[in-house]
Amino acid sequence: MFRLDGRVALVTGASQGIGEAIAKQLGAQGAIVVCAARRLTKLQMVADAIRQAGGQSDVVEADLSDSASVRGAVATTIERHGGLHILVNNAGITRDKLLIQMKEEDWDAVLDTNLKGAWTAIQASTKTMMKQRWGRIINIASVVGQMGNPGQANYVAAKAGLIGLTKSVARELASRKVTANAVTPGYIETAMTAGLSEDVKAEFTKQIPLGRMGSPADIAAAVGFLASEEAGYITGQVLSVNGGMLMA
Ligand SMILES: NC(=O)c1ccc[n+]([C@@H]2O[C@H](COP(=O)([O-])OP(=O)(O)OC[C@H]3O[C@@H](n4cnc5c(N)ncnc54)[C@H](OP(=O)(O)O)[C@@H]3O)[C@@H](O)[C@H]2O)c1
Repeated sequence: MFRLDGRVALVTGASQGIGEAIAKQLGAQGAIVVCAARRLTKLQMVADAIRQAGGQSDVVEADLSDSASVRGAVATTIERHGGLHILVNNAGITRDKLLIQMKEEDWDAVLDTNLKGAWTAIQASTKTMMKQRWGRIINIASVVGQMGNPGQANYVAAKAGLIGLTKSVARELASRKVTANAVTPGYIETAMTAGLSEDVKAEFTKQIPLGRMGSPADIAAAVGFLASEEAGYITGQVLSVNGGMLMA
């Protein structure tokens, strides 16, 4: 169940955190995993770990805030591996500030990487997936894209936009058997949340019915399912992986 043998997967932001866990998960399920991000050395370590665990992997340098770089990464993946079946748009950044302090460049940086980068990767992958009559597009959004969050207007707008993008893409590509879904993590223990104080973490945890922050592996398991043959009748959906903190 949930095997991905023969599938080619491209995971953005695979150099650490949730993206690293997703890359390892898809590798363990049998996919050829192409790990993309800016830091090649880190990517190489993730790719090596996938191979050491018996999987197949590759790396490609990509800056998601640069459209030409994103298109290049998708093209390289298709050229080297003869196709692209699973695209996971995971790369993301935060530039948190209250609305009145937020600079235009904070807005642009977050929207460019988190939303435009995903759109560019999807657009670059679409022709190949349509021709294959098989594809899985999985966008890593966020619980805050569903509920809002003070100090994160740029990030929340990008993540809510990613959910809308997912639904449009799902409707547009469904006739070619290409699905598009979003996964919305809650608070996950990674570098992105490492800066929160213990007090803030304790406060967040109180709002989580399952009583703990999530792990990258919690998100990777959901992605591994959505990427599979068995998830072929699921499209345009938002899968919340948040310990119950939002029940939408
Ligand atoms: N952690 C959470 O609580 C949480 C909750 C909800 C949603 N999410 C989402 O989950 C995703 C992963 O988050 P995380 O917690 O694993 O974050 P993280 O540990 O900070 O990792 C972010 C990843 O994105 C990559 N990245 C950032 N900017 C990039 C760019 N311009 N081009 C290419 N890659 C870029 C980084 O790689 P390089 O630096 O090597 O480029 C890194 O691999 C993000 O989209 C985030 O918004 C996280």
